[in-house]
Parts: sequence; structure tokens; C-alpha cells
Amino acid sequence: MSRIQQTAVVGAGTMGNGIAHVFALHGHDVTLIDVDQDRLDAAVTTIEENLNRQVDKDKIGSGEREEALDRLQTTTDTAEGVADVGLAVEAVPEEQELKAEIFGTLDRHAPDDAILASNTSSISITWIAAQTERPARVIGMHFFNPVPVMTLVEVVRGQRTSEATFDTVSGLAEELDKKPVEVEDYPGFVSNRVLMPMINEAVFCVMEGVADPDDIDTVMTLGMNHPMGPLTLADFIGLDVCLHIMEVLHEELGDDKYRPCPLLRRKVTAGQLGRKTGEGFFSYDA
Ligand code: 3HC
Repeated sequence: MSRIQQTAVVGAGTMGNGIAHVFALHGHDVTLIDVDQDRLDAAVTTIEENLNRQVDKDKIGSGEREEALDRLQTTTDTAEGVADVGLAVEAVPEEQELKAEIFGTLDRHAPDDAILASNTSSISITWIAAQTERPARVIGMHFFNPVPVMTLVEVVRGQRTSEATFDTVSGLAEELDKKPVEVEDYPGFVSNRVLMPMINEAVFCVMEGVADPDDIDTVMTLGMNHPMGPLTLADFIGLDVCLHIMEVLHEELGDDKYRPCPLLRRKVTAGQLGRKTGEGFFSYDA
């Protein structure tokens, strides 16, 4: 076990509750932090349901479930929540100003030797680190949805991330039964640099009438053995998130091969964001 036992997760959305779930299940005392108490309550319910699912599938015992829940607490007070941590993992929406504000708070209130990690999928770790007085102890820890199931963690080195921070976080990922992969701080890292242009191209195929959404996904599930077709996956991730990442790739790499498909933009403008709104490339029950 690494020296880090106390962990905070900031942001109780889908990624945040999944990250808190795996840390608590692997022996960490976890404080889940969010400004919204209702979201915290919903997150704990989701974690309970996902732990139950793992018990039902014999992945864990019911004792492990209870211990994980005992190790989990919540707070709306960020300063208090990070006061004793060895690690804080931020998983709030992808807004630069929000990240700057949160990393400023974490930097002021977490112990000086604590590591501050971001689950960002598209914002530069070097930029996030520059919002703090401890850039050597800031790093990317990019998990994948659903976090309890997906075994990858991209461990992203910012320009000033230290070797010690990198080694600690890679070791931690292994303790969580994840496979850490070392990635440099370039737009989209590896995962979204490769995934999002594929999704964007699938949307171009819809727009140009190459095939309908069902058939495009069938090509990729049956032809390439992907567990989900790109349009189902886009709905799962959220079309707003996909568009935002394409915009970051386009702007920061400056190559028109990353231009977001106009149909993707149109769906986002219309509020058809995928599963979370009940409508994306496919329709979902409430
Ligand atoms: N918590 C715990 N267990 C879960 C779970 C959760 N939230 N969600 C699913 N599971 C478990 C199920 O219980 C099941 O367990 P089993 O293998 O023991 O039976 C297993 O996962 C598979 O789930 P289901 O049987 O319900 O459904 P599927 O077989 O269709 O799998 C899926 C669902 C795992 C989501 C699969 O479709 C998949 O791998 N899809 C691709 C997901 C993907 O690509 N994610 C990455 C998105 S990109 C990202 O996150 C990065 C960001 O920056 C954009």
C-alpha cells in the first residue's frame, strides 16, 4: 500500500462517483466533495448500486461492499474535505475557470506534500499546475467511464510534474487494479486524440448519408469488435463532451482534420446531448 491513505475526490458526477468507488473499494478513506448536497446524495446511491452489482456478479463480497461504504464520506466544504489528504482527484466539468478556482482552493487547503490530480480529458495539465504553487505535485489521472469496469488510467505528466509524483500516482493506479499508461501533456492525450476523431468521422457518415446510425455502429461492433459503436459511445459520453474535445483538438493542434462535424454541433445546440438528455443519435427511456 502506498503512503497515501486519505483521498479526496472533487466533483460527484459520473466520473467522480466512479473514482470515489474504486478508491474506497481498494482501502482508501475517501471524502467525496461537491457544492451540491443533492448531487452528493445521488452519488452515494449510485456507488451503492454499482457495488451491489459487483456483489451480485461475485466480483466482490458483501463485506467488501460494507467496508467500502464505511470508508466513504461526503462534504460540501472543499477546504475541510482536503485538510488531511495525501491525494485529491478533481473530476468537475471541463471549464477552465472552474478548474482554476478549484485548484487554487486545493492548493491553499491540502497539506503541502499532497498530490493534486485532475481527471480532465482535454485541459492541459501544465496549465492546471500553473494555477498552483506546487506544479511538481500536479498530474493528470484520466479514468474511463464506467470507472469501476474500465482498467485504463492515463497518467499525464505536466511540464513540471516530478518523477516522484509520477511514480506515486502510477503505483496508486496499480493498487486500484488499473493499468497506468504514461502520457505526455498534449491535447486529448492519447485516448481522446484517437477516439474523438473516430466518433467525429462517424457523425460525418451520418450527415453525408453514408449509412444510418444503426448500420454505422454495426460496422464497428461486428467489423472491428468494438463493444459499442461510435455513435452509441458518443451518446454514452455526451455529445457536448465530444464536441468540446474536438474543439480543443482543432484549436490547439491547428489542423483542419480535427474540425468538428456540423451535425455534432447542431445536435449539441439543439440540446440532444445523448443518454443524459434521452436523445442523441439514438433515443433512450427516461
Ligand atoms: N459499476 C460496476 N460495474 C459495472 C458498471 C458500473 N458503473 N457498469 C457496468 N458494469 C459491469 C456489469 O455489471 C457487467 O459485469 P460482468 O462482466 O461481470 O457481467 C459488465 O460491467 C458489463 O456490463 P453490462 O453487461 O451491463 O453491459 P455491456 O456488456 O454492454 O458492457 C460497457 C457495458 C462496460 C459500458 C461496455 O459496453 C463498454 O466497455 N463500452 C465502451 C465503454 C468505453 O469506451 N468507455 C470509455 C469512454 S471514453 C472516456 O470515458 C474518456 C472521456 O475522457 C471521454
